[in-house]
Amino acid sequence: MVGSAIWRALENKGYCNLIGKTSSELDLRNQQAVLDFYNQEQPEVVIDAAAKVGGILANKDFPYQFLMENMQIQNNLIDGAHKAGIEKFIFLGSSCIYPKFAAQPLKEEYLLTDSLEPTNEWYAIAKITGVKACQAIRNQYNKEYVSLMPTNLYGSFDNFDLQSSHVLPAMLRKFHEGKINNHSDVTLWGSGAPMREFLFVDDLAEAVVFGLENKLPDYLYNVGTGLDLTIKELAETIQGVVGHTGELIWDSSKPDGTPRKLMDISKMHALGWKHKINLEEGIKKTYTWFLENIKEIKEVKL
Ligand SMILES: NC(=O)c1ccc[n+]([C@@H]2O[C@H](COP(=O)([O-])OP(=O)(O)OC[C@H]3O[C@@H](n4cnc5c(N)ncnc54)[C@H](OP(=O)(O)O)[C@@H]3O)[C@@H](O)[C@H]2O)c1
Repeated sequence: MVGSAIWRALENKGYCNLIGKTSSELDLRNQQAVLDFYNQEQPEVVIDAAAKVGGILANKDFPYQFLMENMQIQNNLIDGAHKAGIEKFIFLGSSCIYPKFAAQPLKEEYLLTDSLEPTNEWYAIAKITGVKACQAIRNQYNKEYVSLMPTNLYGSFDNFDLQSSHVLPAMLRKFHEGKINNHSDVTLWGSGAPMREFLFVDDLAEAVVFGLENKLPDYLYNVGTGLDLTIKELAETIQGVVGHTGELIWDSSKPDGTPRKLMDISKMHALGWKHKINLEEGIKKTYTWFLENIKEIKEVKL
């Protein structure tokens, strides 16, 4: 999802010398393959949007893979780029790098001030080592290696598989299926009370291009909207966009998760980047993409 949005944003801005590889063309866990790739292509800038990603269940079942494969991917990319003499590198992490009980909104300076959320600590520790590797290269070699931490993302090419998807695409799919099933009732997990922040993936891509075109003075930046809403408000917005008129039921026997997760994005705002697409507009675009790609989604994701 993120890599393709960055690709679209770069093409829209006229960049044409883009090099991208799928995991089957270049397995980033393979150090020699990554070094050979750098030697052959000699890129000027590297944007790392590759990771082994997954939800709570996947992290619980495969802690070693989430820790090790993510460190392999980013170590090979970051160290390989440094050795190949590449001056600029953008590393993408996630808000899960911040402590579980950090104050809200989450500021960059809260990194490593307390314990992580245990359900995704393997992934988070890998991401933290990526942030630190970029910071160390930046400090020691004066190169522009920077980390961007996006909030919850959604948009084209999201994962709509109900077993493994995030909350927004899961709701969108549930309301769509309720609608085509004679507007049957839709049941959602929890109370609907927790508050979350969502950023349209094309806005994140704009932030990455902003980071590419500007010299960012610090090593770590949050990227989000700075706005949050309740899960109930999110559900009602998606229900309205999809046009589902059946009943919405909250299953409060299911867990709510952390009560609030909001990024402090004042550092990016101070530099001049701000998101452009509001939540309803982004959900409309995502639903349009979902409808246009529904066959492929079912084949690929289920
Ligand atoms: N989605 C979110 O809400 C969210 C929020 C915050 C941060 N992020 C960050 O954004 C980044 C991308 O996430 P995403 O949502 O775009 O996930 P995604 O759609 O699953 O994309 C992950 C990409 O990583 C590539 N990849 C995985 N293992 C690889 C390997 N061994 N070698 C080469 N490529 C490999 C995959 O390539 P193939 O498809 O070819 O296998 C895929 O293109 C991650 O760092 C994630 O932490 C995402």
